[in-house]
Amino acid sequence: MSQKHYLQFTDLTAEEYAYLFERAALIKKKFKAYEKHQPLADRTLAMIFEKASTRTRVSFEAGMYQLGGSVVHLTTGDSQLGRAEPIEDSARVISRMVDLVMIRTYEQTKIERFAEYSRVPVINGLTNEFHPCQIMADIFTFIEHRGSIKGKTVAWVGDGNNMANTWLQAAELLGFTVHVSTPGGYEVNQAVAGVSSTCYKVFKDPMQACAGADLVTTDVWTSMGYEAENEARKKAFADWCVDADMMRAARPDALFMHCLPAHRGEEVEAEVIDGPQSVVWDEAENRLHVQKALMEYLLLGRMA
Ligand code: CP
Ligand code: NVA
Repeated sequence: MSQKHYLQFTDLTAEEYAYLFERAALIKKKFKAYEKHQPLADRTLAMIFEKASTRTRVSFEAGMYQLGGSVVHLTTGDSQLGRAEPIEDSARVISRMVDLVMIRTYEQTKIERFAEYSRVPVINGLTNEFHPCQIMADIFTFIEHRGSIKGKTVAWVGDGNNMANTWLQAAELLGFTVHVSTPGGYEVNQAVAGVSSTCYKVFKDPMQACAGADLVTTDVWTSMGYEAENEARKKAFADWCVDADMMRAARPDALFMHCLPAHRGEEVEAEVIDGPQSVVWDEAENRLHVQKALMEYLLLGRMA
């Protein structure tokens, strides 16, 4: 039987996202009211981290406990993953002992190989290529503040990285447009995202990408795994700092998002991320609620 996984944004349909966003809103409401919601009692989530994390770790771990389940936390350094046990063997063993696996790793092919040999659903908690749980939270946050994202414009300023690729996938699936501005040499890769050219437009000038946007968003200049390029990137990205002028070029009611962690004075000015248009704290919190909806869905299917 083929197992349902969440390895990239396109693994769910627009209709499934509509359900998950509604479900996440309900789960969030219950959480805020201290109302117990424990459909995953006796279920176990294994979380495998090959890269650092704050939000992904806390949101998955707290989320699984809140759903009534429990969590096993593994890292490369404290498991046989760091001592070259084949990923296929790890997948076969771990998935016989738990009900769900979340992985943060390097190449997308690694999580795909794990999923191929896993008996249980696998969730992508960030790879070099994609960060689908984050974009799910971002879109849920947009909907909470502004309603449907369909037909809207999202400005992506900065690196053509895992977040950018996932925004493109979401745009194609949910019917909005991404205005992308990256320095030369750091462009988005349409083939990696696997999208058509109609869901995004490329701008040399970040100000132009922001013009008329409903949402302006960015990310670190140097993603995890690319630290050796840090100095070169600092030079290349100097003009790709989201500042008040870029926010003024966007729609007056435009939101600002950043998946965090942020570097004030690099990819975003403090007055923007700490300013009135920024929804970064809601965005971070919503990781918890959308991922609870996702875990429930992958294990139990539709609840309503
Ligand atoms: N945004 C995000 O995934 O944060 P962490 O790296 O802290 O998990
Ligand atoms: N693009 C960043 C996101 C961190 C949450 C990275 O991959 O490091």
